[in-house]
Amino acid sequence: MTMELTVADQVTAGRELLSYVRDVSLREDEILAGLREETAQLPAGTAMQVLAEEGQLLSLLAGLIGARTVLEIGTFTGYSTLCLARALPPGGRVITCDITPRWAKIGRSYWERAGVADRIELMVGDATATLARLRDEGVTGTVDLAFIDADKTNYPRYYEDVLPLVRPGGLIVVDNTLFFGRVADPAAQDAETAAIRELNTLLRDDDRVDISMLPFADGITLARKR
Ligand SMILES: C[S@@+](CC[C@H](N)C(=O)[O-])C[C@H]1O[C@@H](n2cnc3c(N)ncnc32)[C@H](O)[C@@H]1O
Repeated sequence: MTMELTVADQVTAGRELLSYVRDVSLREDEILAGLREETAQLPAGTAMQVLAEEGQLLSLLAGLIGARTVLEIGTFTGYSTLCLARALPPGGRVITCDITPRWAKIGRSYWERAGVADRIELMVGDATATLARLRDEGVTGTVDLAFIDADKTNYPRYYEDVLPLVRPGGLIVVDNTLFFGRVADPAAQDAETAAIRELNTLLRDDDRVDISMLPFADGITLARKR
């Protein structure tokens, strides 16, 4: 039997199911919850920050591949940074970058409380310049996991600049690849949606990586470098 659901039914069912998924799987501790609550006081804080379940997935992925060196594009208040840093072994490092140091100042006290601040190196500046600097410093081929979560219009460029920095077998995680559903809406013709669509098709056709696009959170694409 096929059950037809209206869009409203699907949204309600989706909300109920998401609530259940969170209830039985989230393990956000009080440090992460504190950072989430403080960030929620900022304008657009909730929209900018990764969802708790995504942070948990990032930790799991970093642990699964035994990551020691992680690169993050888009620190904001450092929730995803903290999830990634906690998954690393002693001696591991997260290089995280943001165009402004303003928000990471909030995160730093939580990184310290979690005992991982010494694993986190914040690089302030435009991500394109930061990635060029890392390449010049010889980071090429050494990153185990890269997480892209900054300005959307530059996503295709960030992917191309990050790929050489990642080791073969390393993982690139791209956030917001469904962009609130706008990627599938022909009426959405803004520059951010167009850039994400461009990256999505580039990834589909890119034989340098194996991919899986997860319809989870706001869409997360995993790309493993061959
Ligand atoms: C969606 S937020 C990152 C959220 C973060 N991963 C978290 O879990 O809280 C995007 C961040 O990208 C930064 N950003 C925007 N344009 C940038 C650029 N050109 N270079 C570097 N960072 C940029 C913003 O300042 C913002 O903090």
